[in-house]
Amino acid sequence: MNFELTEEQLAVQQAARDFAQNELLPGVIDRDNEQRFPVEQVKKMGELGFMGMMTDPKYNGGGMDSISYVLAMEEISKIDASASVCMSVNNSLVCWGLERFGTEEQKEKYLKKLTTGEVIGAFCLSEPEAGSDATSQRTTAEDKGDHYLLNGTKNWITNGKSASVYIVIAQTHPEKKHKGINALIVERGMPGFVVGKKEDKMGIRGSDTHSLMFTDVKLPKANRIGDDGFGFTFAMTTLNGGRIGIAAQALGIACGAYELALKYSKERKAFGKHLSEHQSTQFKLAEMATKIETARLLIFKAAYLKDEKKDFVKAAAMAKLYASQIAQEVTTEAVQIHGGYGYVKEFHVERLMRDAKITQIYEGTTEIQKMVISRELLK
Ligand code: CAA
Repeated sequence: MNFELTEEQLAVQQAARDFAQNELLPGVIDRDNEQRFPVEQVKKMGELGFMGMMTDPKYNGGGMDSISYVLAMEEISKIDASASVCMSVNNSLVCWGLERFGTEEQKEKYLKKLTTGEVIGAFCLSEPEAGSDATSQRTTAEDKGDHYLLNGTKNWITNGKSASVYIVIAQTHPEKKHKGINALIVERGMPGFVVGKKEDKMGIRGSDTHSLMFTDVKLPKANRIGDDGFGFTFAMTTLNGGRIGIAAQALGIACGAYELALKYSKERKAFGKHLSEHQSTQFKLAEMATKIETARLLIFKAAYLKDEKKDFVKAAAMAKLYASQIAQEVTTEAVQIHGGYGYVKEFHVERLMRDAKITQIYEGTTEIQKMVISRELLK
């Protein structure tokens, strides 16, 4: 077993680290306070190749492996999880889904622009009454012969306002339950499509999360991804890979908080010596580092299995389950090590603690990961 990263992977990691330090760190606290999407930074992420990292170069992608992708996700998430969720949805859910299941025409028209960041994508599955219970889709895509008529509401959509290309999951044949669902491409500005309320969130406040409303949106049949009724399998398959990206995001948030706590513990003195010289802090740091390393190994394993085209469903769910749990624990300890300073914004760790929580909710809650894992164990 080889734990060494290749030169190419190390270069990607370094490029992401430099970008995060130089371009994302300045202003990250203000963007969080003002709930401001990192428009310029995401544009730059596209120019640097971070928006379509794993996509084939013939569609303007980076043609990289999933390990490189998780390395970049980790580095960017250490500094700005609002930017990294935009990156994760675009890479894992939208670009990957379109490349794997889209038609050549869809790839030419949409994928080539999504990979460069010229446009941003959104993945629209959740509804007011269908979050975890994703088979209960109320949004309908009525088959009108040569087109679909889309009606319904989607909730908590990442990149809700900044996206131009939306993959919307909708029910076409209710009697067939999850086998009657379709995945459809909706473009920003189509008549009947309205971007609704922006959510005022606890964390990832720079990310724009919106509800979306569709009223008689006319969609050509050519905008359907895969065969009629393939939409639920499309969503589940895409989310399996997406969970690796969110696990890497959780890892990055944890690692960012740990690195700040480590540094602070060597600077701050209490009772006549540095915090790092107190065994209570040393034990905390040891536990935080061990959890981070364990999460990293689970994530690398899931990414490796995906790259090898082996079954990675259980590994991805385990990686997300564990990384999101330890992100909670590690960021909380980082705030604790900082004491009062940890509770104020300028020291960053309180933001990381707030951002960590979402990794236990989106792309499947903690409970959904346990369902996915136990099904794999029992099948
Ligand atoms: N991979 C592939 N297929 C899967 C699957 C998986 N992980 N899980 C279920 N399926 C398939 C099943 O095989 C079944 O297909 P067949 O009938 O053809 O065999 C079909 O899906 C239905 O499965 P179930 O009957 O088991 O469905 P269920 O309702 O009991 O449970 C679920 C399904 C796993 C709970 C699913 O609803 C789920 O994953 N929910 C969570 C949804 C989610 O992650 N939402 C996040 C929103 S997206 C997001 O957050 C993006 C963002 O903004 C960051």
